[in-house]
Amino acid sequence: MVQVAVLGYGTVGSGVVEVLEKNKEKINLRANEELEVKYILDLRDFPGDPYEAKVVHDAELILNDPEVKVICETMGGIEPAYTFSKRALCSGKSVCTSNKELVAAHGPELLRLAKENQCNYLFEASVGGGIPIIRPMNYSLTAEEIDSIIGILNGTTNYILTKMDKEGADFEDVLKEAQEKGYAEKNPEADVEGYDACRKIAILSSLMTGKFVNYQDIYTEGITKITAQDFRYAKAMNKSIKLLAMSKETPDGYMAMVSPCLIDCDHPLYSVHGVFNAVFVHGNMLGDSMYYGRGAGKLPTASAVVSDVVDCARHLGKTVTCIWEEEGVRLIDFEQSKRRFFVRVKKEGMDKAKTLFGFSDIIEVMEDEFGFLTQVMTEAEFKEKAGKLPEMIDRIRVEE
Ligand code: HSE
Repeated sequence: MVQVAVLGYGTVGSGVVEVLEKNKEKINLRANEELEVKYILDLRDFPGDPYEAKVVHDAELILNDPEVKVICETMGGIEPAYTFSKRALCSGKSVCTSNKELVAAHGPELLRLAKENQCNYLFEASVGGGIPIIRPMNYSLTAEEIDSIIGILNGTTNYILTKMDKEGADFEDVLKEAQEKGYAEKNPEADVEGYDACRKIAILSSLMTGKFVNYQDIYTEGITKITAQDFRYAKAMNKSIKLLAMSKETPDGYMAMVSPCLIDCDHPLYSVHGVFNAVFVHGNMLGDSMYYGRGAGKLPTASAVVSDVVDCARHLGKTVTCIWEEEGVRLIDFEQSKRRFFVRVKKEGMDKAKTLFGFSDIIEVMEDEFGFLTQVMTEAEFKEKAGKLPEMIDRIRVEE
């Protein structure tokens, strides 16, 4: 019997208990152990809940109980999750988490503590919700040199951009509707400004490099400036606009960013719609592979946490190898990263734009402006030229 404790009885935590109960037989068979939830930690009481009797308010009960071997940390945020996770790992209890903030900020330290105490710190649910991506990175792709990861890692923004694309709607209107339907948070900043996707690509980049990629070093731009007009241009070019989180090994070093990008209709990420997430990985032997599914939601995320619990139960007293050193990776100066840009300019800026950027084709979907695609250039070069073009309305990066 493996006793499990769940920290945080919110959406994901209650999902973990539900998954463990609903799929009990199969889960126990696969774990080769009987798993039982002994405690649920939450500040609140849950009168009438079938697990009411397991709810406790004092973390010490759990942390000091030698019978508890696995802890599901579904609290979110840094504290007290960080302190509880460290204490648990230091006493040899494995921790399975959905907490991307904590994993992105302290992953390598928590992995080291797990190794020092012959237990595990597993975080499948921290990226892409229910999509298995951490385990493929850590088990299935171990023969690969991974040189590129591009993900749609945020369901809220993908839902908003999909609606804008399909319905020609404006950002603010779709956001409001998404909030009313409960798809977007009342405070949507972490999603729409790209911070959530940034934490997730920091985790994947760290697994790709084996070293610590600090999320604070990743250039991050959200979707709040994307307009219905931008989508009219995208359509005219057979493209769409997606919030992409990417990490690439370039000849100049590692580049990571989160930004809205134009992608072509034949790009595998083009067809990832609505709340779905996908991660497109390139390895030097395998080539391209893509992982697709529900990137958020109670049961998909809980399923990923429980898959980690099973892994912990299979490896009691042993640490599953995960290469993520505490040493940091220096990313290339974002200003020196290269790409093409799509630019919208007022008609009166045509001559100046031509002289500055030297394009031959223009895209016209509105009367008083035009759009064009630049050659590949650095961010710094683009900024310098754009600074000389006050008629510029907008620019979007292009992913090819
Ligand atoms: N807010 C996140 C999303 C939830 O929209 O994808 C999962 O991390």
